[in-house]
Amino acid sequence: MADIITAVAPVNIAVIKYWGKRDEELILPLNDSLSATLDTNIMYAKTSVCARPDFATDEIWLNGKKESFESERLKNCLISIKKKAAAEKSVNNDFLSWKIRVCSENNFPTAAGLASSAAGYACLVTALAKLYKVNSDVSAIARLGSGSACRSIYGGFVQWCAGVDPQGVDSFATQIVDSSHWPEMRVLILVVADHKKKTSSTDGMKISVQTSELLKHRVQHIVPKRIDEIIDAIYDKNFSKFAEITMKDSNQFHAVCMDSYPPFSYLTDVSHTIIQLIHSYNKACGEVKVAYTFDAGPNACLYMLQSEVFVVISLLKHIFPSSNPEFVTGLTFIPEVPLSTEILQAIDIEPQATDLIKYVIHTKIGDGPSILSDG
Ligand code: DP6
Repeated sequence: MADIITAVAPVNIAVIKYWGKRDEELILPLNDSLSATLDTNIMYAKTSVCARPDFATDEIWLNGKKESFESERLKNCLISIKKKAAAEKSVNNDFLSWKIRVCSENNFPTAAGLASSAAGYACLVTALAKLYKVNSDVSAIARLGSGSACRSIYGGFVQWCAGVDPQGVDSFATQIVDSSHWPEMRVLILVVADHKKKTSSTDGMKISVQTSELLKHRVQHIVPKRIDEIIDAIYDKNFSKFAEITMKDSNQFHAVCMDSYPPFSYLTDVSHTIIQLIHSYNKACGEVKVAYTFDAGPNACLYMLQSEVFVVISLLKHIFPSSNPEFVTGLTFIPEVPLSTEILQAIDIEPQATDLIKYVIHTKIGDGPSILSDG
């Protein structure tokens, strides 16, 4: 019986966004990026792999559907892990020549801007590394699957250093702090749509690299300073500083999309209402209590401290009424927090049509990938 390796890997949500490549094939970014890894108890990709001498071809199933193994990114990950295993002599050549089966699934919507490819490739590479007994860093190999996947190889807050080497030897992820550093940090993901997005991140960033002047300015003059500042804010657990940089970086990323030619936008009216809501809530509080960030899709990711969670949920329920009895997942008990008239007056946003936000996922900062079983 062949060994079946099963790995679980987390989603990560960038607070300093990766947008734009200096090398399309090697997936080398123009700028450093930084993200938080989310708890795999709530959102995860799960991948099983096995190799056998009697398999005729490499095959892959994604969320129960057989897909082609012809994708360059997929093949590059497999080739790179095998190369590493050969260099480290961790398995024999016969085993390396066997074909493999891969079976992968997410427990959250694919391609809805919820970082599914990041978790998926981090998981695949973790499972393959275990299969071929590779023990060294594999974040640069996960990067070959999807750039942001390299950050899902570690837990806590993670930086992807863009590097300068043309071959990408210095373009990998490193952990800034582990998941225990800022235990009060919470994340709410507001799922406003789960259909496939129109412009993929890969295509979108290509257009931006070719046409956006703002992207050039961002890469040279904005991101390096922001990376330093947000790392300091994380070390110091300075939430308002962290939140301000996070929101500004999300806004600039979406401004780059609009500065691209032709322009494209991932934000919908609901996303804009959420942005307005968070700013007016922070203003009403007299300090920055909540940060939003949006990836290549309309779903919002809100960062806040634990003390803020229940009032924010009450506010969301008030502004975005829902007919879904399981509107919030990831929390066993949610007390009703009455919203004061002062807060509601200060916010001054009318309740919206029902079900504009489909559901909310409550989660926190988590660890990197893990192996479930290996035999
Ligand atoms: C907006 O990693 O999906 O989520 O490298 O082409 O696969 P490829 O792109 P991908 O881009 C993620 C973009 C982002 C920002 C981020 O996660 O940093």
